Amino acid sequence: MKKLNIRNFSIISHINHGKSTLSDRFLELTGTVPKDKMKPQYLDMMDLERERGITIRMQPVRMEWQEEDERFILNLVDTPGHVDFSYEVSRSLAATEGAILLVDATQGIQAQTLANLELARKQGLTIIPVVNKIDLEQARVEETAEEMANLLNVKKEEIIKISAKTGFNVDLLLKEIIKKIPEPQQEKDKPLKALIFDSEYNPYKGVIAYVRIIEGKIKKGEKISLLAAGIETEAKEIGYFKPELFPTDSLFAGEIGYIATGIKEISKVRVGDTISQKGVKVEPLPGYQEPQPMIFASLYPVNPDDFDFLKKGLLQLRLNDPSLTFEPETKEALGRGFKCGFLGSLHVEIVSERLRREFGLDLIISSPSVIYKIVDDKGKEKDLYGASDWPESASNIVIKEPWALLEIITPIRYIGRILDLLKTMRSNYLETNYISQERVILNYEIALSEIIDNLYDKIKNVSQGYASMDYKVMEFREADLVKMDILIAGKRESAFSKIVPKSKIYEEGRKLVEKIKENLPPQQFAVPIQAAVGGKIIARETIKARRKDVTAPLYGGDVTRKKKLLEKQKRGKKELAKKGKVRIPSKVFLAVFRS
Ligand code: GTP
Repeated sequence: MKKLNIRNFSIISHINHGKSTLSDRFLELTGTVPKDKMKPQYLDMMDLERERGITIRMQPVRMEWQEEDERFILNLVDTPGHVDFSYEVSRSLAATEGAILLVDATQGIQAQTLANLELARKQGLTIIPVVNKIDLEQARVEETAEEMANLLNVKKEEIIKISAKTGFNVDLLLKEIIKKIPEPQQEKDKPLKALIFDSEYNPYKGVIAYVRIIEGKIKKGEKISLLAAGIETEAKEIGYFKPELFPTDSLFAGEIGYIATGIKEISKVRVGDTISQKGVKVEPLPGYQEPQPMIFASLYPVNPDDFDFLKKGLLQLRLNDPSLTFEPETKEALGRGFKCGFLGSLHVEIVSERLRREFGLDLIISSPSVIYKIVDDKGKEKDLYGASDWPESASNIVIKEPWALLEIITPIRYIGRILDLLKTMRSNYLETNYISQERVILNYEIALSEIIDNLYDKIKNVSQGYASMDYKVMEFREADLVKMDILIAGKRESAFSKIVPKSKIYEEGRKLVEKIKENLPPQQFAVPIQAAVGGKIIARETIKARRKDVTAPLYGGDVTRKKKLLEKQKRGKKELAKKGKVRIPSKVFLAVFRS
């Protein structure tokens, strides 16, 4: 049989180590994108990705390359590097046979390098180790190559040294890909099995499934079934990525491409599902283990009429982000919204930013919180998604919260500052391992809620950006937690209620009441803002009444009249304060939650 000459691969690395830049060089070198159309981070299709310089979504591209007298098809799947998006990485890895492990020579191996390498090894992929940014003066090329050789148990000479920026040695890397990454299996004659590894929505073509053809072949117009969804349709269009959609007549085993399904009901097409020929019985592919969201935040439209629009937006984002979950909820002060599940704080930020940009939605987003479990006196467990689920009577129950294994990679000189930082958190030190003479891995176990409270930024701050972290959620552990309520003018404002560790109630209570005071506009009467735990006030601030000079219209010095007016004003304010309903503008929620 004629060789297919296909290589499917991805690039894995820690954030900012140069994946997108290397992809750009591949696109140029193979002539996939003409020079005059080239722009930096070409595969980062979203404006948001380009502005922030991060890859959020995977993006496949098919390139062609002539090596001596043979032609090769190279399918590259670009992947994100941040810890919150490792689910995306595992999906793209499942569509490929090999991965380039890229490490920045000025940074060395970082936490996500290890995490992504572990994912690639689990898939049994061929790894090509590469040191990048060797053009930089501060590059520690030899040390980085040494670290990688130790990590992968290979000879130092096997590590390829490149500059993705200048293009140095990128052609050599392409040759290495062809030499080392195995050819995909060519089981063209078996019945069709295509793995959906991603999808997008197109108003004309319906859901477009991104597929890796594992076995068999597919032709345009063929009748197909989506096995898990149990639906049948037709392949309205098929093609591959250049990286824009490029229609073709057929796709074969080993290829990566797309199938436009015509399906308009977005929720029907799930990543991980198998596409087969209609009426032909096949075993579905194993698919993916969908990640369990551990972090929850509520999203409310500032304009209550946008509720349905928000729902539509969430449905569309979920199409290529199955880790995003949501269900409707209602809060008196905020109206109708959704409680959403996420993989991490950056995930919350990116989803809300995409809703704002791509759907023009103005949103109020509650502070993210981890998921808890309540165990009642009969030992029955129930999930608890936030303060609003807190049981009225909290005696005789046990609350559990998720803990995580934390790995921090740091140069030795920052160890002291990192240890000090971790001492202020609910964490236990486990051990230290050396990557090289200058750099170590610190291992901790830590309450997940400490991680989502911006641990990533805190570690970057104390290490001047040199340390990196990764974590894995472990089991739920018993926790000493309480529900903290916020009373505004004596009335509980449930949108501000929060679950906090008992040891932190005073600190948290003070922070919250101060933040509300800073943002809530003064009323005609004095407004007390109190934090309360189990009926006991633990922090208080007061916003003074707005002053209106009622005596201003008086001319001259009629003291009795002045006094009378001021008395009347005082009485009026007291009355108001008694009935006192404070309307909280949405900007207050925005500011408080953002902090
Ligand atoms: P994420 O998608 O967010 O994970 O980042 P990435 O790995 O795709 O990194 P990206 O390609 O965006 O590169 C990060 C920064 O490093 C950019 O400013 C690049 O210009 C720069 N960079 C990448 N490769 C090189 C290189 O070989 N030399 C130099 N000097 N800079 C590089």
